[in-house]
Amino acid sequence: MTVLIAFATVEGQTAKIARFISSVAKNAGFNAKLINTDEMSSHVSLDDVVKVVLLAPVHERRHPESFEAFVASNRDALMKRKSLVLSIGLKAAFASGREEARDYLNEMLMRTGFEPNETALVAGAVRPENYGYFEREILEHVVLLGRKIDPRDGAQEFTNWDELTSIMIDFLGGIGPANQL
Ligand SMILES: Cc1cc2nc3c(=O)[nH]c(=O)nc-3n(C[C@H](O)[C@H](O)[C@H](O)COP(=O)(O)O)c2cc1C
Repeated sequence: MTVLIAFATVEGQTAKIARFISSVAKNAGFNAKLINTDEMSSHVSLDDVVKVVLLAPVHERRHPESFEAFVASNRDALMKRKSLVLSIGLKAAFASGREEARDYLNEMLMRTGFEPNETALVAGAVRPENYGYFEREILEHVVLLGRKIDPRDGAQEFTNWDELTSIMIDFLGGIGPANQL
């Protein structure tokens, strides 16, 4: 039984999360098929796929174009499988930002027409080593406005790995031999 994990990433945190959930799926007895929507043609074979996890980061309120194009163009096949969509961002790291984070996710689902079985908002990371002047300004004056987090202080990861593991185990229907049948 194969779980498709399709992701996009800009600075690398979503790629790290994708690799992590791939190992959770393998530990739960599944095969994991990991694809980066920036590095593939729009159609992918889902013949052996029983469940799909779709994950992408938010940059300036939107998920990457390649990700939305992948979801929209494979929508019917993806919706025949049990699905989980994870939206990765920094607004999701703070209680007061989660309503806005939910809006990004809902808007993406409306644009793509995709109706997942489950969704979750996942906190991402600050990775200043990957930012230019523009990205630093956006983070400091828009995304993290009013927070005591300064991108000049270096990388900071907000992703809650234990919570992510629980989300995945629930989605996969548990861990262990039952999933290997
Ligand atoms: C230029 C820029 C814009 C961003 N815009 C948003 C945003 O609108 N909302 C949000 O919640 N997070 C925003 N973020 C935070 C990213 O979603 C977060 O850093 C995430 O971990 C990036 O994932 P990636 O490393 O896979 O690209 C932004 C980050 C950058 C650098």
